[in-house]
Amino acid sequence: MKRLSTILDQLTISEEDAPAIRSLKQKASLQAIKAQFELSQAQLELMSTYFVHEMHQGLSRDGCTIRMLPTFVYRTSPKVDGEFYALDIGGTNFRVIRMNVKGGQLVSSNQQASRIPDEHKNGGTAEGMFGFVADAIGSFVKDDAKEESPIPLGFTFSFPITQQAIDKGTLLKWTKGFTTRGVQNEDVVQLLQKELDKRKIHVKVVALCNDTVGTMVARFFEDASTEMGVIIGTGSNGCYWERSKNIVKDKSLDRGMKEMCINMEFGNFDSHKLNVLPVTPYDDEIDHHSPNKGSQRFEKMISGLYLGEISRLVLVALSNNGALPKIFAEKLNKPYGLSAKDTSIISSDILPGLHCVHDTLMTEYGIDCTQASDRYVVREVCRLVASRSAQLSGMAIAATLIKAEKNGDATIAIDGSVFEKTPYYKAVLLKTIKTLVGENADIRCVLQKDGSGLGAGFIAAMVSHQK
Ligand code: BGC
Repeated sequence: MKRLSTILDQLTISEEDAPAIRSLKQKASLQAIKAQFELSQAQLELMSTYFVHEMHQGLSRDGCTIRMLPTFVYRTSPKVDGEFYALDIGGTNFRVIRMNVKGGQLVSSNQQASRIPDEHKNGGTAEGMFGFVADAIGSFVKDDAKEESPIPLGFTFSFPITQQAIDKGTLLKWTKGFTTRGVQNEDVVQLLQKELDKRKIHVKVVALCNDTVGTMVARFFEDASTEMGVIIGTGSNGCYWERSKNIVKDKSLDRGMKEMCINMEFGNFDSHKLNVLPVTPYDDEIDHHSPNKGSQRFEKMISGLYLGEISRLVLVALSNNGALPKIFAEKLNKPYGLSAKDTSIISSDILPGLHCVHDTLMTEYGIDCTQASDRYVVREVCRLVASRSAQLSGMAIAATLIKAEKNGDATIAIDGSVFEKTPYYKAVLLKTIKTLVGENADIRCVLQKDGSGLGAGFIAAMVSHQK
């Protein structure tokens, strides 16, 4: 990979270059980027086999790159009735949801979304953050909280948590840019319950789950062939059903064929040694400046928080070697200054002349990209970065299906802005899965919108049904 990145230096375009030479060098520079980002079948096969290996490791002991966390959510969808509540903290935004369930099916729901202020997210305290969330829950449940018994609430917390029970889980490590103090190594259910109790809000947190788990369960209540839940949004991760007897590291679990959902935390795949991940110098740079350096290397190549930044770093490199006008390096000089939303708009432009690329660059970044060939380069860079993300997440899905022996027929419930809003993403994802599990497999990747929160409500319903 090093040699490919230095090729950009060899190809530096100068003022003296004749137009034909300039065009040739521009083409070669883009091809060098393509060679770094486009993954071959051989690379995908190696990665998926190694991924399966790492899943086995994670099931047998703690501290592996794919963490394989037991969730205490079992494969069952009881025909419950009632009103259930859910809290969904996914990243910067959180939602409180009220759900009406009849015969195990969602009849109606309503919700209130809010934003976690930066002061709580970056460097704030656990008390401040969970206090803020508890206030929002209090104002949402208001009159319903007058009942004698407390309102049961399912809590989706989209960060790596080790669970000791369905309603108990410790945050292993912050991801997605959070640095709030006093949460790592603490039980997040207790932190929230404490703030609710302080405010005399009559709500009891009965279940804790990851967003992938919520997404899978929400779909599973509708479609029993749902085998995985996947998030490809600000962060990325997946979960699946595993036979209890295979979860070797947890001695307390009953050994049997009963299937439990495993939160893989696959965003951390191969982060220790980078044995198989096709990291580029741009990925290294992102990792180097991130608050969780050395962790979540796979997530940093896939998820929305980083896709804009990877594209920006490549565009700046191309501008520095003359393959794009100098103005790109000048205007795109701010880290995280290019949004994933804009790179997705740019990469979707199929108009002749790529006017959408021009307009987005002009209005959002003040770059007047007059040459059609330059617009083409910009679009291709954004496409390559997004397609690599789709190939990598497709590889992870295929590997999981192979490990679970569900690679012939499965529904995969997927949520997240990258999957939802990038037009060709699903096609690349599906193609990658099929090349790895077999062309004849019937694999359905469905968008499970807002599943993370609804799933927590369903899990709260499961818990109350078991009592
Ligand atoms: C977190 C996961 C989460 C994923 C998607 C990652 O950063 O570690 O727990 O499921 O983001 O939100």
